[in-house]
Amino acid sequence: MYVALAPPGYLPILSRADKTAENRPSAAGGKSSYLCFQRLPARDTRLSAVVDRNVVGVVGAGQLARMMQQPAIALDVRIRLLAEDASAAAAKVIVDSTVGTPRDRDLLLQWAQRCTVVTFDHEHVPTEHIRALEAAGHLCRPGSAALVHAQDKAVMRERMQRLGVAQPRWSRVSTGDEVTEFAEAGKGFPIVLKAARGGYDGKGVWFAESAADAAAVVNAMPDEVELLAEEHVDFVRELAALVVRSPSGQQAAYPVVQSVQRDGICVEVVAPAPEITAELAVQTEQTAMRIAAELDVTGVLAVELFETADGQVLVNELAMRPHNTGHWTIDGAVTSQFENHLRAVLDLPLGSPAPRSRWAVMANILGGAPQLFDGYPHVFARDPALKVHLYGKGVRPGRKVGHVTAYGDDLDTVVERARHAAAWFRGDGG
Ligand SMILES: Nc1ncnc2c1ncn2[C@@H]1O[C@H](COP(=O)(O)OP(=O)(O)OP(=O)(O)O)[C@@H](O)[C@H]1O
Ligand SMILES: [Mg+2]
Repeated sequence: MYVALAPPGYLPILSRADKTAENRPSAAGGKSSYLCFQRLPARDTRLSAVVDRNVVGVVGAGQLARMMQQPAIALDVRIRLLAEDASAAAAKVIVDSTVGTPRDRDLLLQWAQRCTVVTFDHEHVPTEHIRALEAAGHLCRPGSAALVHAQDKAVMRERMQRLGVAQPRWSRVSTGDEVTEFAEAGKGFPIVLKAARGGYDGKGVWFAESAADAAAVVNAMPDEVELLAEEHVDFVRELAALVVRSPSGQQAAYPVVQSVQRDGICVEVVAPAPEITAELAVQTEQTAMRIAAELDVTGVLAVELFETADGQVLVNELAMRPHNTGHWTIDGAVTSQFENHLRAVLDLPLGSPAPRSRWAVMANILGGAPQLFDGYPHVFARDPALKVHLYGKGVRPGRKVGHVTAYGDDLDTVVERARHAAAWFRGDGG
């Protein structure tokens, strides 16, 4: 039986794809581990006023923007890119690319003129510039009021607190003494220090083992950087919940996944999270959907989570764009996160987030031989069912330059196939 607990105000949608999945065994005790909800749409009529209804402006030209291009081709959606560099991953494949920085407010406003809607490949756009776009009548999805929660970890923590969402103990701090006080009021050191803004891939996150460590981090920080301290969560694993929300209020939730981070960088994602109970999966998906609705997120919302030994799930951070923990959906789900992001920002009905197979494992390719192409003969010959995505980026040690996805019925085999291929590209032989 299809089991779905709809949040208040939402109705479960039972599309044909949903029904097919009823028989699919899943980690969630044989029940469907994805949900798709519809709030009866009040269609956004502002889109109809724009002549070109299919131009999605994307700020930022990394691999996320690049991977939006594939479903954009199929849907005949035109992507208009604001690329910081002509050789950036997405600028290499998107014809309509303007080179410039979103920190240049005038350029941003001018670039947005011919966009139906503006969305983002990264969070590093000054919030006041997004507000300026909105004030000038441009549709930004997500909007500035939502996006600030993905831009500023302190703002996000305050909001999660008000919403009563479980999260690590935390505090704003500005001196070493404040960090020590915070530590001593809880479990002591280690403590995690984070820059409120500007972090990614673990940059902007420091693990302080002692008061001296904490003081060194605080003292080395430029004055304008706001810091927060968090208890060090002794998690058993990291999870991520990915939901997509349209301006009409429709939501689709992908199965909760397990992610493995090394040195602050995601290395592997298993979908669905192995051995997660149906209760925890549904509860986590509903928390993510509630956050999306409360914050009025449009597009993809990724909620990074810690699962603790006592079965609690705590929110680590939010991202409001396609997310590394959702890359498996390109090959492993009926509708990829990239397609659903485009559909959402254009306020189109969302596609089914149902998985196509029992398991999907995504492994990032972090660094490798200068010519990643040379990895193809072995990888393709060994595993004809493997899917490879290279981002067209210059290879540097540890840099995220692509990913592979394997899917199938046996988890151990799928994990081995994905890990082997990623290791092969990385040049350590698999
Ligand atoms: N409070 C914490 N306790 C234990 N580990 C933590 C804590 N906060 C962060 N981490 C670890 O550090 C990683 C990076 O932290 P976080 O996600 O906040 O940083 P980020 O640089 O913004 O990441 P992203 O690459 O997702 O943008 C987490 O995935 C987790 O492995
Ligand atoms: Mg993170």
